[in-house]
Amino acid sequence: MSKLIVSDLKDLKGKKVLVRVDFNVPIKDGVIGDDNRVKAALPTIKYITDNGGKAILFSHLGRVKTEEDKAKLSLRPVAEHLADLLGKKVTFVPATRGAQLEEAIAEMEDGDVLVVENTRFEDLDGKKESGNDPELGKYWASLGDVFVNDAFGTAHRAHASNVGIASNMDQAAAGFLLEKEIKFLGEAVDTPEHPFVAILGGAKVSDKIGVIEHLLDKADKIIVGGGMTYTFYAAKGIKIGNSLVEEDKIDLAKELLAKAGDKIVLPVDNVCATEFNNDAPTKVFEGDIEDGYMALDIGPKSVELFKDVLKDAKTVVWNGPMGVFEMPNFAKGTLGVGEFLGTLSDATTIVGGGDSTAAVNELGVAEKLTHISTGGGASLEYLEGKTLPGIAAVSNK
Ligand code: 3PG
Repeated sequence: MSKLIVSDLKDLKGKKVLVRVDFNVPIKDGVIGDDNRVKAALPTIKYITDNGGKAILFSHLGRVKTEEDKAKLSLRPVAEHLADLLGKKVTFVPATRGAQLEEAIAEMEDGDVLVVENTRFEDLDGKKESGNDPELGKYWASLGDVFVNDAFGTAHRAHASNVGIASNMDQAAAGFLLEKEIKFLGEAVDTPEHPFVAILGGAKVSDKIGVIEHLLDKADKIIVGGGMTYTFYAAKGIKIGNSLVEEDKIDLAKELLAKAGDKIVLPVDNVCATEFNNDAPTKVFEGDIEDGYMALDIGPKSVELFKDVLKDAKTVVWNGPMGVFEMPNFAKGTLGVGEFLGTLSDATTIVGGGDSTAAVNELGVAEKLTHISTGGGASLEYLEGKTLPGIAAVSNK
């Protein structure tokens, strides 16, 4: 069933359009790091304002647990950055409710943009935002005429500012970003062109069990890299030295390997060190890893093996790094995979998750890929086949 899209909402002129965006971006000392999520929200915001609507934006930023967190987690810098990106004035309201917010909304003219303060400031008083407090969702819904959810990154959360507002409006539409994410991730998982190869990395098998299980029937190959490799190694009886392992997941890894037949492709060599340190001397082991060494990246033969598996793929989904990507000496596996994905011009290539996204951005191959998801947890849950509450709350056509 297809979802109602913002472009299906006719006659936005003069309407107060409440928009849930995901502006949860890294900010250090007031400076925004990766602003992809803000840029990704621009088409929806521009569509609303170009059609004479008043865009009232809601987002969370970080996790607000103390009064001190509030000082670090104001959305003001994001609102200022948004003004630069849009090339127009953006009103920032340093409140999540009350007269100041209501007056600022009443003063908006057609085409104006307003950003409400971090919705999670409401969490200090009984987790009202994260707990989807019914009164809060109702109040926010009362501030507008229409609701658009464009926060794919938050779609796995049932917050007052997405699910709560939606459930208090006659209709909730998806923004263009949400539409795009559902299209690419949905097609990849439900109707992929084959061969379909999933690349899964990251530290823990436990984080990816749901995805592996869901994709086992759908993908032709599942490439596994990163720290979770060594739980699979342990399951196969390969020596892992001091590498990361989840002892309590070894049996599960055995079951997954048995179910998968030759679908799961593991690294054949690993870059190892005696310490978790970028400058530690390294040694590459094929198969068994010597005692005293820990694997911190996949090795060069594994990169070649993975390229061979990927070269004829028509659909590729990648989530999670192949090694300790934040340390330059252990980033080669992740970068090698990212670089190769950029050469697959006949395939639909989709990347999700912070580190793999950072890798393709660092390599400058992001624009050669079909879709870079703005969702971390949300894209994982989507790949697990779960129903995401933020998407479920959007009206069907
Ligand atoms: C994210 O960055 O994954 C989303 O914005 C959700 O943030 P959260 O994990 O703090 O709920």
